[in-house]
Amino acid sequence: MGAQTTRAVVEREFPGLVEAAETARRRAYAPHSHFHVGAALLFDDGRGERVVGGCNVESDVYGLTICAERNALFAAIAQGRGEPLALAVVADTDAPVAPCGACRQILHECDPRRRLRVFLVAGKGDAVRETSTTDLLPSAFVLETGTAQQRNPWR
Ligand code: THU
Repeated sequence: MGAQTTRAVVEREFPGLVEAAETARRRAYAPHSHFHVGAALLFDDGRGERVVGGCNVESDVYGLTICAERNALFAAIAQGRGEPLALAVVADTDAPVAPCGACRQILHECDPRRRLRVFLVAGKGDAVRETSTTDLLPSAFVLETGTAQQRNPWR
């Protein structure tokens, strides 16, 4: 699923995005899994920094762990940001990292216009997979109420 691309291609279209995800990955706190993940969201809304990063943070109570993708998305909400244009996720892997099911749900919700460009980046080598929030979560659950749509902070 998704299209194969390269870091150079992503860099040309979204300069600094993959590097921002790698910077976030270096801040990951993963003493249990030792699997460090970084995410970076790009905005073009003229408010604050263009890029908002997030890393995974683990807890000694394992279930409290939160992924890099959701940390970036929720940090962006706290900054009052709207719809992100692009997302890069990077982990120290040979193949592009695969977001978990929980993150796929939140990613689907953060992209009500279905325009988010998602780049899954291999930490080792050059492999990048470009995908979309519908590709990541086909037949997603969507709460079809007016209030949920109107209050969506990512709209
Ligand atoms: N993890 C992420 O942060 N994002 C992903 O896309 C995959 C998994 C984290 C959660 C946990 O801290 C560690 O990676 C391994 O499960």
